[in-house]
Amino acid sequence: MFITTVKYGELSSLKWVETPLTYYKPKVDADLCTVCCASLNFLDIVAATGQLPLDYIPQYKNSNIYPGIEFAGYDSKGNRVMGITPHSSLATHTMVELDYKIPVPKEWTIEQAATVPVAYATCYYGLIIRGQMKRGESILIHSGAGGVGLAAITLALSMDCELADNHIGNSRDTSFERMIMKETSGRGVDLVLNSLTGDKFQASFRCLAYNGRFIEIGKADLVRNAELGMIEFLKNISVHAIFLNYFHEDFLKKTGDGKRTMQLLKDGIASGVVRPLPSSVFESHQLEQSFRHMTTGKHIGKVLVKVRDEKEHNVCKITSEVSEIYFDAHKSYIIIGGLGGFGLELANWMITRGAKILILTSNSGIRNGYQKLRLNYWKENGISVIVSKENCLTLCSTQNLINLANKSAPVGGIFHLALVLRDGNLVEQTKENFEEVCNSKYKTALNLDKVSREYCELLEYFVVFSSQLCGRGNAESSSYAMANSAMERICEERKSEGFPAVSIS
Ligand SMILES: NC(=O)c1ccc[n+]([C@@H]2O[C@H](COP(=O)([O-])OP(=O)(O)OC[C@H]3O[C@@H](n4cnc5c(N)ncnc54)[C@H](OP(=O)(O)O)[C@@H]3O)[C@@H](O)[C@H]2O)c1
Repeated sequence: MFITTVKYGELSSLKWVETPLTYYKPKVDADLCTVCCASLNFLDIVAATGQLPLDYIPQYKNSNIYPGIEFAGYDSKGNRVMGITPHSSLATHTMVELDYKIPVPKEWTIEQAATVPVAYATCYYGLIIRGQMKRGESILIHSGAGGVGLAAITLALSMDCELADNHIGNSRDTSFERMIMKETSGRGVDLVLNSLTGDKFQASFRCLAYNGRFIEIGKADLVRNAELGMIEFLKNISVHAIFLNYFHEDFLKKTGDGKRTMQLLKDGIASGVVRPLPSSVFESHQLEQSFRHMTTGKHIGKVLVKVRDEKEHNVCKITSEVSEIYFDAHKSYIIIGGLGGFGLELANWMITRGAKILILTSNSGIRNGYQKLRLNYWKENGISVIVSKENCLTLCSTQNLINLANKSAPVGGIFHLALVLRDGNLVEQTKENFEEVCNSKYKTALNLDKVSREYCELLEYFVVFSSQLCGRGNAESSSYAMANSAMERICEERKSEGFPAVSIS
């Protein structure tokens, strides 16, 4: 299970739900770990509260929000580990790429370990790799009592920075600018580690000395497209935006920065520079409280959610509060009438729930811009969608469709949404009209039933879209009602014989 906001943007709807790891397949470059403790980061807060549009968070594009990008617990071999994940580490189990999994030192508790990965990795990546920080340089660290702030102070002190009382200012207004200028005799600082917004962002920017490096770890002003006074660039400065969540994206993987960061983190642990941070710990049933605590900005260090006891790490006491449906990325799913109104929405929903291979059928193929837009968007996001004109009106056509799907991957589900409507008073109905309606619904369902029994061994879903009209009737829809009723009988028969079948009225 992992946590998610059941209602987007509402912290009160944070719940433990079943994960798509039901369909987990072992990978050579990743490990399924047991989570004992996971920490919250501001990315989790802004995503869960809906403050940051999900388009700006690659790991949440095409999906729900599954918070948590770090954890500590046990790997599949029973070793104590901590790590950084692209998402869903606030979970009972999480997948971590081997490059981002490191051992927990013997002398640390798991709870302590959970405070370390993201805060220190942000500092190593931002200050050392991107900011090229050197011994003895000066740095302005904002929100020094937060997780990243404390890690940055620890790192800076290990690199001969001084921290005297008169070097401590306030990052909740712009008074720090005067302090910096006074303490540096108007020179400014070599590095700024910034997460502040608005006038405080601008004030921080003005604190840079010649050759200064501005390390931006916040997102609010970037998303708002805030402007930066170009005149400051006359000081030969550089600006770096730091997105640890891009570590798992191919474009950043290519640079090797992620691996380098993890190596620096390991070295820091070995040399004793990296030390666990203070934390506030919440229990697994206190999800909303933990998120709200972080939004107040009153915490010191990290905010943790304890998922299970370290000593009893094989025992999971959390039960799922919401049962979710997920689809297997390694199976194909057929939607008959998939380019229609419900079809496109159903396909999109299935993709958000893990489906990666879809076959959509239609008599006429792509006809409008919305269909094209959807298909292009899915393609850009790595989803395989095949559009087929097989109408399933014959066993041969149905067989062709199932073969096509099986070629991509074993068929996991068939969703029958096809519809031809020929409404009219009974006296006006013709045999042809009646047949057309029945063919699109009943005959197609019959063929799919027959062929799938033989050629879809791994089928989990056989869903037909019926209508309330089949039970209640409607003056002009007798053929439609009849066709839907007949499909429902097929589903009943399948169910009684142990095959999957659901009919939605
Ligand atoms: N919308 C509602 O309020 C509602 C209410 C109750 C039930 N339903 C049921 O939900 C399903 C989907 O409804 P919808 O509103 O999305 O309808 P829709 O927009 O008309 O979509 C149905 C699609 O089926 C395709 N189609 C027809 N015959 C086909 C065949 N033999 N093979 C493959 N595709 C075929 C049509 O595309 P082409 O013309 O390109 O073939 C059409 O785009 C229907 O079965 C309907 O009975 C809908």
